[in-house]
Amino acid sequence: MTLKDEISPAGASGVGRYDWERETTQRTGAGAVDDPYPLIAVRRAEGPVASDSFFGMFGLPDPMAAAWPGAQRFATLSYAATEAVLRDNVTFSNAGIRRMTEDVFGPVSLMGSDDPEHRQFRLLIQPAFGKKAMGLWTSWVKPRLDELIDGFVEQGRAELYFDYCAQFPVFVIAMTLGVAREDLDHFHELAAKLQIGAAPPDEARAARFQVEDYMRRVIAARRVQPRDDLISLLIDSELKTAEGSEKITEEQILGLVCNLLPAGAGTTYRSLGIVLVTLLQRPELLARLYGERDLIPLVIEEALRWNGPVLTAPFRLATADAEIEGVKIPKGALVEPGIAAANRDPARFDQPDAFDPFRPAQANLAFSFGSHFCVGGQVARMELRSALNALLDRLPNLRMDPDAPPPQLTGLLYRMPTGVPVVWG
Ligand code: HEM
Repeated sequence: MTLKDEISPAGASGVGRYDWERETTQRTGAGAVDDPYPLIAVRRAEGPVASDSFFGMFGLPDPMAAAWPGAQRFATLSYAATEAVLRDNVTFSNAGIRRMTEDVFGPVSLMGSDDPEHRQFRLLIQPAFGKKAMGLWTSWVKPRLDELIDGFVEQGRAELYFDYCAQFPVFVIAMTLGVAREDLDHFHELAAKLQIGAAPPDEARAARFQVEDYMRRVIAARRVQPRDDLISLLIDSELKTAEGSEKITEEQILGLVCNLLPAGAGTTYRSLGIVLVTLLQRPELLARLYGERDLIPLVIEEALRWNGPVLTAPFRLATADAEIEGVKIPKGALVEPGIAAANRDPARFDQPDAFDPFRPAQANLAFSFGSHFCVGGQVARMELRSALNALLDRLPNLRMDPDAPPPQLTGLLYRMPTGVPVVWG
């Protein structure tokens, strides 16, 4: 029996389908907030830390309020305040996130743990991003991108957000893990449900159990016959312990899979959509990229700073009374590290609202900072570069589809374009 028969005999829906994207992202602010940055600038001018949540600031129902009734809320708005919160993982703990994400992550939760437990989880996941694993990730990217472009290249027009951007990061994770090709669509659907806040908790939990059941079978098969995939690599990895070293357990591997899926499923494709709309709105820069591919990394870094796919890093729980940039934060408060707000702080970036790939190189917080910084940053950058290059290789004179409604960027917790309608040739 394939995963398809077990999960959804009536057919799949999920990320990459317009209705799914609209439904899930409306829950996190899409459509209600298109450009959050003017209000953020106003609030930042009042002080580096707002006594509010981001959802509260924008007058939207806060998905966290139910899990944390009565907790005082804060959101950092300046670079210095955001960095200070992310740096101090003792005072600003990730443990609170567990309550909201255990449906998705189960017992192994990178995002929901603090050191020393978190350090142990990071060690567990390290082999998935080492040199050998990077080769595995990379090997799936270009063939998939070419396959997607083959599907529409003859048509002269395409909806790149749904038919290209959304169709490759989960594919790459799935193939790298060792999922069978015929199970891909349904794996994609499950991965979409695991994105934080995207599906109701019971659906998220059910999706996790289905992913775990499937991966248990993959693990069992790889124990007998290893292959060139991440599961075989993880099975083989050794963990240093006080007594020497030990092999990673099945439960640990399953936990890592459930951490990787939502983190990699919801971010890279939205980021690619944002990069493409940004370029289509700047035809001269896009035309230049055809001949000057070495500008691509600059465009990507700047797009991540200027309009990253997530507004905040997961909230932190204050474990003691604290003070950030002169603002008192009481023990028990929830603090949202405003990484996107930080990336538009004029104290850090000149003319922060301008998209300028040629600005002086300066680190930004799109992949966060401190002990929880994004472990998949290099995979994401590689995917974004490859996806842009593949389009430039195959679709000459790419431009906005004049017959489609012009796309716009939207969303609060997750940022994305409404679509990427293009023509070429
Ligand atoms: C453009 C794409 C991406 C962006 C902007 C992004 C951003 C982030 C951010 C902001 C965090 C939170 C860090 C914190 O709590 O301080 C995070 C965590 C994480 N990301 Fe990414 N991410 C991206 C792609 C990926 C990919 C492709 C993967 C895996 C293949 C991945 C895996 C993870 C994991 C496992 C964590 C949890 C790390 C921890 O708590 O220790 N991410 N990411």
